[in-house]
Amino acid sequence: MKIGIIGSGHVGLVTGAGFADLGNEVICMDDNAQKIKMLRRGRIPFYEPQLFELVQKNEREGRLSFSTSVHEVVRFAKIIFICVGTPSRESGEADLSAIEHVARALAKNLEDYRLIVEKSTVPVETGHQLYTTIKESNRKKIAFDVASNPEFLREGSAVQDFFNPDRIVLGVESARAQKLLVELYKPFKAPILVTDMKSAEMIKHASNSFLAAKISFINLVSQMCEEVGADIVKVAEGMGSDRRIGKAFLNAGIGYGGFCFPKDLQAFAWIAEKLNISSNFLKSVREINETQKSKFVSKVKKALWNLKGKTLCVLGLAFKPETDDLRFAPSIDIINQLRTEGAKIVAYDPCAMPSAKKVLKGVQFAKNAYEACRRADAALIMTEWREFRELDIGRLKRLMKHPVVIDGRNIYDPLVMRRNGFRYYSIGR
Ligand code: UGA
Repeated sequence: MKIGIIGSGHVGLVTGAGFADLGNEVICMDDNAQKIKMLRRGRIPFYEPQLFELVQKNEREGRLSFSTSVHEVVRFAKIIFICVGTPSRESGEADLSAIEHVARALAKNLEDYRLIVEKSTVPVETGHQLYTTIKESNRKKIAFDVASNPEFLREGSAVQDFFNPDRIVLGVESARAQKLLVELYKPFKAPILVTDMKSAEMIKHASNSFLAAKISFINLVSQMCEEVGADIVKVAEGMGSDRRIGKAFLNAGIGYGGFCFPKDLQAFAWIAEKLNISSNFLKSVREINETQKSKFVSKVKKALWNLKGKTLCVLGLAFKPETDDLRFAPSIDIINQLRTEGAKIVAYDPCAMPSAKKVLKGVQFAKNAYEACRRADAALIMTEWREFRELDIGRLKRLMKHPVVIDGRNIYDPLVMRRNGFRYYSIGR
């Protein structure tokens, strides 16, 4: 099939390259000419495991190309996915101006039937808005459909997630749109859930909010565990063994970050309020997430007494492993709070250093974890990268000024750390 992707960010690029790999012909479009130039030169603007190889292979084999022209995409593709960003406004409401802009550009270029699919995370009813906007600007009255096909890719495992989804959600309003999308998704093994557009939009927003709530719930329990001396890792294991609860997303830590959960939760709360429905539950999820960060700072203070003049080694900056994404990463807020207390920060992340250098001012960056820990008063674990789990802790101890580790992701065994002479603090145990 001929596919067009509008917006070549994380979602767009993975989706485009993924569909191309399944034998479709795909054009990925973006109005950022710099980005398209980079992609044409074989470079990916962000780090995502396996994506480079996937893009390169499909470009080489002639199924994937890049463009800055909406006109070219509309002429070429029967199915057009909208994958542009939907950032938050100050109020928490999603900013849909990029979607509107795309809708008008698509309408202007329509010459023949096209199926326009929203893949970006959008508030419920955006699809209908999209339909009305296209209809309004569609002077030649060309037939078209709008559908919603939310994506559930996670950064860091997006390529794997694309090929192995748990489910495929198709929000359609016509038999023609349903037929086209079912055909496109035929190679996938996952169950297909066909529904109306509003329900599909709701599924995506509600799923992200639910996952954020699951994390905040376990973080709240971790705070209680700390007070009474229970072990959150065991508690989560015990809870997660109940199939109704499930083990995933029960890792207590310094809170969730990234470009999706914080923004989607806020937008979901905004929708609830707009509908005159209480958003208290969703607000509490966010509040717990904020508290988790300030509690970590208090933990560091308690461990080291005064922070003024102390050198803290921060291991991990990205909002999660296998990504270089720092957007809304808990590490940023925590580092800023620690710097306000007068601490000196030496940081290392296996992947996010180039982006970190742009956003974290006054922080010193080290070449590797050992160098970051040299002469440090304490080491702080902020992202659970595998290479940190595999560190030689004996070497770490010899390099540090004081053997203090404050682990925000519970990656070490407290017994092992203590046996090796560390003063070790973690979350909820
Ligand atoms: C999330 C969803 O998981 C995807 O399904 C969705 O497609 C995506 O948002 C999106 O809307 O685009 P992502 O933000 O890439 O994916 O990352 P997650 O793996 O969900 O992690 C989010 C945050 O939660 C991270 O900061 C992670 O450290 C934190 N987390 C996750 C925990 O603190 N504990 C856990 O048990 C799990």
